[in-house]
Amino acid sequence: MIDTTILQQAFGSHFGGEGIPYFAPGRINLIGEHTDYNGGFVFPGAVTQGISAVMRPNNSPKVHLYAVDLQRSCSFDLTDLEGPADVNFRYVYGVVRELMAAGVIVEGFDAVYGGDVPLGAGMSSSAALESCFAFALCDLFGGHLDRMTLARIGQATEHKYVGVKCGIMDQFASMHGRAEHLMRLDCRSGEFQYFPWHPDGYRLLLINSCVKHELVGSPYNERRASCERVAALAGVETLRDCSWEQLKTLQPQLNNEDYHRARYVLGEVDRVLSVCGALERNDYEEVGRQMYLTHEGLSKDYEVSCPELDFLVDEARRLGVSGARLMGGGFGGCTINLLRNELYDNFLNEVQQTYRGRFGVDCHPIPVSIGDGAREL
Ligand code: GLA
Repeated sequence: MIDTTILQQAFGSHFGGEGIPYFAPGRINLIGEHTDYNGGFVFPGAVTQGISAVMRPNNSPKVHLYAVDLQRSCSFDLTDLEGPADVNFRYVYGVVRELMAAGVIVEGFDAVYGGDVPLGAGMSSSAALESCFAFALCDLFGGHLDRMTLARIGQATEHKYVGVKCGIMDQFASMHGRAEHLMRLDCRSGEFQYFPWHPDGYRLLLINSCVKHELVGSPYNERRASCERVAALAGVETLRDCSWEQLKTLQPQLNNEDYHRARYVLGEVDRVLSVCGALERNDYEEVGRQMYLTHEGLSKDYEVSCPELDFLVDEARRLGVSGARLMGGGFGGCTINLLRNELYDNFLNEVQQTYRGRFGVDCHPIPVSIGDGAREL
């Protein structure tokens, strides 16, 4: 979390005085990738990195924003039907409009925000931004929306104002995170459970490939469309309800690509359940094995990996890491690695060297701790 005094200083110089501070986190996801919009399970946890904002009502019909990381400002009217052209500010605009549509009486406000969740790393910086504003504005203007509704407001913002047809995982995790717990969410029913995360003798490490992951304009929506085509042919609402037998029967009617996409999703829904069983037995080696299988599926069947991410996963395997895979939407961003404590230093040194040797650029390790969800600070 960034130091909010930086935000308060910027608030003072732009608007005078101080704002009320809020925070919402980014997330990791242990397993269950591209399953959320298929009605399957996901296994995320909020991290301690995220987006912080300080804000205050301004008794006008206008919103004034200053993003410290971008060093840019933006203003819009609450009744503006178009919103800002700059996509960076459309996240906040979308949240404002969606909150209003949900009945929250949002009034004009001034806000300064910034964060420490790396952009484009697959850690859901955009969900953190949406969740931070959704939570804060609901609180500031006396709305009574529960956290799941606020998460759906963030998701609707992606769909309607940014153009990414994402699932609910990122906003869900940012709103519901709990320190030292992962969450298993059933994306079909919306039911979820907290799982204590104390992997004795193991730790998680993200490695940012620094290949910019950008879901806006990426083939993310095409992947979703493939899944929806197969589900429609199978006569089910989402692929979660398509059985292996059904998929096999349908195979002759499917193009090769759609078949492989669906095969990945069915496998991933099963893998999340295996991981739950393994976690109950504290069998982290089995959790790791499933993570490697996920990566293989994401790389070969779902085709959302890239040479840099494949390399990082291969290196992890070579260096004895228990499990590794690309995390999030793909097309760049991070790998998530589950490794025994004693391997940590060696893995960190080696992978940084070999990555630089292979690609001529640095990868960035990101240690993670599991933290709480959106809140006032
Ligand atoms: C992105 C989306 C999520 C989810 C993941 C892949 O992070 O925002 O909804 O689909 O990709 O699991």
